[in-house]
Amino acid sequence: MTGKMEYLTFFNGHKMPILGLGTAHALGDDIEKAIDAALEIGYRHIDTARRYNNEAQIGRTLKKWLDSGKIKREDLFIVTKAMEGQVDAGRARSIGLSNFNARQVKRVWQSARIKPANLQVELHVYFQQSQLRAFCRALDITVCGYIPLGAPGVRPPGRAAITVDTSKQPKRDQMTNPVVSQIAQKHRKTNAQVLLRYVVQLGVAAIPKSTNPDRLRQNFDVFDFELSAEDMEALEQLDKGSAGRQVRAFIPEMANHPEYPFNAHY
Ligand SMILES: NC(=O)c1ccc[n+]([C@@H]2O[C@H](COP(=O)([O-])OP(=O)(O)OC[C@H]3O[C@@H](n4cnc5c(N)ncnc54)[C@H](OP(=O)(O)O)[C@@H]3O)[C@@H](O)[C@H]2O)c1
Repeated sequence: MTGKMEYLTFFNGHKMPILGLGTAHALGDDIEKAIDAALEIGYRHIDTARRYNNEAQIGRTLKKWLDSGKIKREDLFIVTKAMEGQVDAGRARSIGLSNFNARQVKRVWQSARIKPANLQVELHVYFQQSQLRAFCRALDITVCGYIPLGAPGVRPPGRAAITVDTSKQPKRDQMTNPVVSQIAQKHRKTNAQVLLRYVVQLGVAAIPKSTNPDRLRQNFDVFDFELSAEDMEALEQLDKGSAGRQVRAFIPEMANHPEYPFNAHY
């Protein structure tokens, strides 16, 4: 990487690297090799979840690196699902939320003893979440955007739990969008790099997933160029609002539940 990593600072002073590694749909050997490659490249923010079925492999690879002395635990920012008791016990420093709408965030924020520091939600050039971002900013909650590349090619076989609803959504063509391509050519960057730089320049963290070392490197290399105000405006115009939302049905049978988060506008 030629540029310098940027960080989001939480209200409690802890910092999160603005570019992290997504780990969904990466299993077995693939995820172990991806974590090795990513740490070698310089990734220090890793997004994990129990439902990705790869925590053991990720844990094993991180332990290998920690035992070798090449990295220290305090250099790593590991995201998983933790609560106030974990912070009290010293096992987590900050609490984040994921897939909460504004009303739900507000309710937690009002009742929590330890306020949430980050909200992880779907966010990319076709679904820019400007109202939710503004809402979080007002509460001093940072935002992390998942599927920042629009999840090109992600169709987990038989995995109803993580569903990209392609039937109702516009084509997932961020990666080939002509506006993105034009800006990428101007900066001599790839479309993926422009999409990631856009998210980062909005002040939002991005966690692109890759298990391919070249793409891991490429996705990390977004700190040596800046999108102009004109570029930012052109990319802002690509927002489709909630029509651009891809991940709607994590648990389809819950769509009628009063707390189903995605029925609200934001
Ligand atoms: N909190 C939640 O509910 C939630 C939901 C969804 C996702 N997430 C998190 O967000 C992460 C990212 O989302 P995602 O993995 O669904 O989508 P994504 O990061 O937008 O896209 C990943 C896909 O793009 C490909 N790719 C990566 N870099 C590329 C590049 N430079 N050029 C071309 N293709 C590239 C990857 O393939 P290769 O691996 O072959 O490169 C993979 O197929 C997940 O891994 C997970 O950690 C969280």
